Amino acid sequence: MNVMVIGGGGREHAMAWCLTKSPRVREIICVPGNAGTMGIATNVDADISDHAALIELVEKHNVSLTIVGPEVPLCAGIVDDFHKAGLRIVGPTAAAARIEGDKAYAKKIMKAAHIPTAEARVFDRVEDAKLYVEAREHGFVVKASGLAAGKGVFVCENNEQGLQAVEQIMVDRAFGKAGDKIIVEELLKGQELSVFALVEGRTIYMLATAQDHKAIGDGDVGPNTGGMGAYSPAPIATPSIMATVERDILVPLVDAMNNDGSPYRGILYAGLMLTPGGPKVLEFNCRLGDPEAQAVLMRLESDILDIFEALADGDISKLGIRWNPQPAVCVVMTAQGYPGPYEQGQTIEGLDSVAELAHVQVFQAGTKQIEQYTVTSGGRVLGVTAMGPDIRVAKSRAYQAVEKIHFNGAYYRRDIADKAIAAKSTS
Ligand code: AMP
Ligand code: GLY
Repeated sequence: MNVMVIGGGGREHAMAWCLTKSPRVREIICVPGNAGTMGIATNVDADISDHAALIELVEKHNVSLTIVGPEVPLCAGIVDDFHKAGLRIVGPTAAAARIEGDKAYAKKIMKAAHIPTAEARVFDRVEDAKLYVEAREHGFVVKASGLAAGKGVFVCENNEQGLQAVEQIMVDRAFGKAGDKIIVEELLKGQELSVFALVEGRTIYMLATAQDHKAIGDGDVGPNTGGMGAYSPAPIATPSIMATVERDILVPLVDAMNNDGSPYRGILYAGLMLTPGGPKVLEFNCRLGDPEAQAVLMRLESDILDIFEALADGDISKLGIRWNPQPAVCVVMTAQGYPGPYEQGQTIEGLDSVAELAHVQVFQAGTKQIEQYTVTSGGRVLGVTAMGPDIRVAKSRAYQAVEKIHFNGAYYRRDIADKAIAAKSTS
């Protein structure tokens, strides 16, 4: 069958790469895709917010199943529009995707369902938010309530930083309408964990775990990004922690969404902080994480089409997903300036020599092909992903590959997976 993948990041390249391994997939159509998907799929440069245009593409390319990578079209109701047109698509409805698109709503549901999360207050007036921030005596976190590509969250150590964050979100409108409401919440301490699950109503099927690296700088310093690297599995996700996460977080959430009239069907991502008091929710997302997906999907041994079909309209409880037990590490290479304004149009060199390396896959994100050149076209440019018999080897293979790739202004963190290595050496 022909399958369409919506999105153009590393996650979508990784999904398309998995689809190439399915014997049942004939053609993959990526909208818009990137220079990396060009070699394995048909890229179509359409506007992913134009659902009618996407529905036309389904007909034109005889697509049997559509998979949505990013949150923006999901929150805008792409799944609802495809269903109205009688088409098969993987992802939650707009009502269910609110769990990511509206953090104030997510907080409300979590509170009502007694799901452990940071204590939070929601504000829609600048003055109220400022008064509250000024009165805080400890560190806290300020978040835009709407979608902000991972950049609308400010971890504040003092009142001054908090006031600046409020100003940026609500006055300067750095994230547009996403800043109509603001959340000020308790600062949680601990290690972060990304948990992914397939959800179909009240049925939950846990996927492999991963850890992201959100901050731009080594040692988790500096502003937040969409994610600078990831590894899977996360050694801190012990069976007992995962059982707690399922029982105290995922089950009450999917039950609450069912009871609320917005049952969830799709991939659910719980961003967690493992605090001394147990796992607490930082946020829910309505999709796979990126770059986590690159590390997770590199380890997938089952046919991804079976998973997507079960999620679209089958029975996820019958899936028996197999993972390669070897860990995977993904190092993101970004353009100079990211997560602020960044340069584009730099020629990328070295991709060919890395393509020959065993155990390494370069998933492309902000890239495009201009004649024979692959050039940068986004903030996060590449996700250099490697597997190995242990996390140390996976890390060194990923960094050896990174060293072979060059473009002007290339930046990457040098400490991806160090937390996992430390955890392994003390366990
Ligand atoms: P979010 O998009 O809400 O997951 O926030 C992005 C990142 O900001 C998280 O992955 C954390 O690194 C950080 N963060 C968000 N909320 C908190 C919190 N309450 N305490 C500490 N760090 C947080
Ligand atoms: N890597 C974080 C995210 O996808 O939201």
